[in-house]
Amino acid sequence: MVDTKTQYLNIKAEIDTAIHDVLDTAAYINGKPVQEFTVALCNYLNVKHTIPCANGTDALQIAMMALNLQPGDEVITPSFTYIATSEVVALLKLTPVFVEVDPKTFCIDPESVRKAITPKTKAIVPVHLYGHAAPMEAIMQIAQEHDLFVIEDNAQAIGCDYTFLDGTVKKTGTIGTIGATSFYPSKNLGAYGDGGAIFTNDDELAHKMKMIANHGQQKRYYHEVVGCNSRLDTLQAAILNIKLRHLDQYNKARQAVAQFYNNAFANNAKIITPFVADYSTHVYHQYTMQLVGINRDELSEFLATQKIPSMIYYPVPGHKQEMFASFGLPKIELAITDNLTTCVISLPVHTEMDEEQLSFITSNILKFINQ
Ligand SMILES: Cc1ncc(COP(=O)(O)O)c(C=O)c1O
Repeated sequence: MVDTKTQYLNIKAEIDTAIHDVLDTAAYINGKPVQEFTVALCNYLNVKHTIPCANGTDALQIAMMALNLQPGDEVITPSFTYIATSEVVALLKLTPVFVEVDPKTFCIDPESVRKAITPKTKAIVPVHLYGHAAPMEAIMQIAQEHDLFVIEDNAQAIGCDYTFLDGTVKKTGTIGTIGATSFYPSKNLGAYGDGGAIFTNDDELAHKMKMIANHGQQKRYYHEVVGCNSRLDTLQAAILNIKLRHLDQYNKARQAVAQFYNNAFANNAKIITPFVADYSTHVYHQYTMQLVGINRDELSEFLATQKIPSMIYYPVPGHKQEMFASFGLPKIELAITDNLTTCVISLPVHTEMDEEQLSFITSNILKFINQ
């Protein structure tokens, strides 16, 4: 699905120098590159504060810890997403409230959010799924009306632009109260190990999240709040600092891959290619299409025989995960989500794909579909 090895070889000289510089200083934790990367990311995203941390799941957890949410408070999240989003809600003894997504963008549906609001609702967690922005203008409007926090899960969409109705453009992850992202190796901005970051324009929240990520301390051994140990190590920061310079180019390469797939599958009644809303760019963390009247398992098995990988993101939605069985959550029907889990399939998309690989993939898919 990804080829991080070839991507590394193409920037090997820069990366190797950065890694050796860290080894030379032996500052493995909180070395200079961590601060440099934090500043570079603030500039890239046009956000006031970036707090680096150990991974994207921690980023979401630290964000929720900083908002002083209390056990039983309700947090609205789409059911159709990676489990980390709702897992941290559960971990903090908050109540996940699963809502529906839009069948075209796969992102949280504002109307479903509205219907789910109760006096216990404290936050909404929109997910910019697959690299496409959630409808932030509507979500922010709802949050304002009901005095709710918004935590953007931007793990899959770093570099994506959101255009507001007045023409203002902002990067996803910088619109809500807090944004969270992941630098897992296969992400659009991927480290060579785990990593994550939290974004906010709020000084007080930034201060608090920095403390929480560092055992709740400002001054060493004086712990003001309960925190955790969540750091981006210096080697990862040095690598990410280099890769951030290539991010726009990487996202363009992903868009070119998507365009190739879109052209190949255009006007094919059995494939619904990814939709891009007027308000969003798409950075194609995944190229996820919907199959109509095609046996998905048979297609992926056939592709596997041709050594073409494919993945199902996600086969089981949050509201049907066994981990929540003991939570006593009300039974809900999410028909769009349930349907998507049966018909979506993701194809390989990465920065180093060439036309030969793409033609091989598309011709095999079309061969299977048209047989
Ligand atoms: C939507 C979403 N949220 C959160 C995460 C968690 O990130 P990490 O794996 O770095 O903890 C991921 C990563 O896969 C993700 O895709």
